[in-house]
Amino acid sequence: MVQTAENYEIADINLADLGAQRIAWAAKEMPVLLKIRERFEREKPLQGVRMAACAHVTTETANLAITLKAGGVDCALIASNPLSTQDDVAASLVRDHGISVYAIKGESTETYLKHVEIALDSKPQIIMDDGSDVVATLVKNRPEQVKDLLGTTEETTTGIVRLKAMEKDGVLSFPAIAVNDSQTKHLFDNRYGTGQSTLDGIIRATNVLLAGKNLVVVGYGWCGRGAAMRGAGLGADVYVTEVDPVRALEARLDGFKVLPMMEAAKIGDIFITVTGNRHVIDKQHFEVMRDGAMVSNSGHFDLELNLEALAEMTTERNSVRPFAEEFKRDPQKTKVQGSVIVLGEGRLINLAAAEGHPSAVMDMSFANQALAAEHLVKNQGKLENKLQTLPEELDQEIAALKLEAMGVAIDELTPEMIEYMNSWTIGT
Ligand code: ADE
Repeated sequence: MVQTAENYEIADINLADLGAQRIAWAAKEMPVLLKIRERFEREKPLQGVRMAACAHVTTETANLAITLKAGGVDCALIASNPLSTQDDVAASLVRDHGISVYAIKGESTETYLKHVEIALDSKPQIIMDDGSDVVATLVKNRPEQVKDLLGTTEETTTGIVRLKAMEKDGVLSFPAIAVNDSQTKHLFDNRYGTGQSTLDGIIRATNVLLAGKNLVVVGYGWCGRGAAMRGAGLGADVYVTEVDPVRALEARLDGFKVLPMMEAAKIGDIFITVTGNRHVIDKQHFEVMRDGAMVSNSGHFDLELNLEALAEMTTERNSVRPFAEEFKRDPQKTKVQGSVIVLGEGRLINLAAAEGHPSAVMDMSFANQALAAEHLVKNQGKLENKLQTLPEELDQEIAALKLEAMGVAIDELTPEMIEYMNSWTIGT
């Protein structure tokens, strides 16, 4: 019998039964993680390691946390976003698995920052981060704790951009594993996970019909590719805006119309930002949007939409549905009259209004996280103090396990093929 965690801050422990049921449901779609869990139970590769994990507290994260605990970790889990916590899941982790969770759906920024401090108070040896807030806080405010770190792991594109900036500034003095850069992470989670769950979030928040609508996807990274592909699948006319010529060209040849944001702003019915950058939809764009245009963000932080600028040109704000707020624009201050609808407060719409990426895709992302933690422990003292990816063999192993679980068989290279690949003398 696992003891209830001693320390935690969650909405309501009485929600634990529902959480337990939903965690078990998600586990059915996470065979790779479960296989790692079985091995962790036997081998205990993380025995006694203190970890601070900052993640969306979902059924999938719960399965990761249970796996890490099976490996022997002592973990404090905090929410990586105020709107993404599933309170029933947090309750079950505390009651049924003895995991210290600090996460409440709808928590304030103040509470979030308090939880970051609590996580750091646990003197973590590994930080599993989602956006790099915990790592950045440690480096800025608690430099004396850096010596305790075996290393950190980062889940998101946004967090990796931040870690690269830290590296450039010479403050990254520990190994940091870019989990997002594993192929079995970004090719699947960012593309198929964000693609499906972003549209799921928009639909749950609005019940809008996508067919026949102009959908503007801002940014054509892996998340943008997924959102555009799934939007087109639902019958929307998809428009893409980009700053990178190669990506813009790819979007065009993938069949989407590419145009500058100023033009897209005038014709879009629904907008999705997935750039990881600041104010990609700005004042001048809000001024020209159609009446009733809906804007949403699926990038990690809630800064992609300049909501301060929108608020300044607004006379009245009304909550029109859960996760949908109408901003009535002042006709004196804008070029087009009427309202703009902001979905999920401009926070990750897939996690705010829906349940995030489906378990089957998080299976691979979190297999990478579990193996990254093991990699940091196994290679303690041997890894360079820099941003790095997991070894390619681990990526291959995760893909092979996933294929096996899906019942998909593939071929092997024949000796003749291997010989050909290793020779340079055979040509025309
Ligand atoms: N990020 C996106 N979807 C997620 C999910 N379902 N669980 C945890 N983190 C996520």
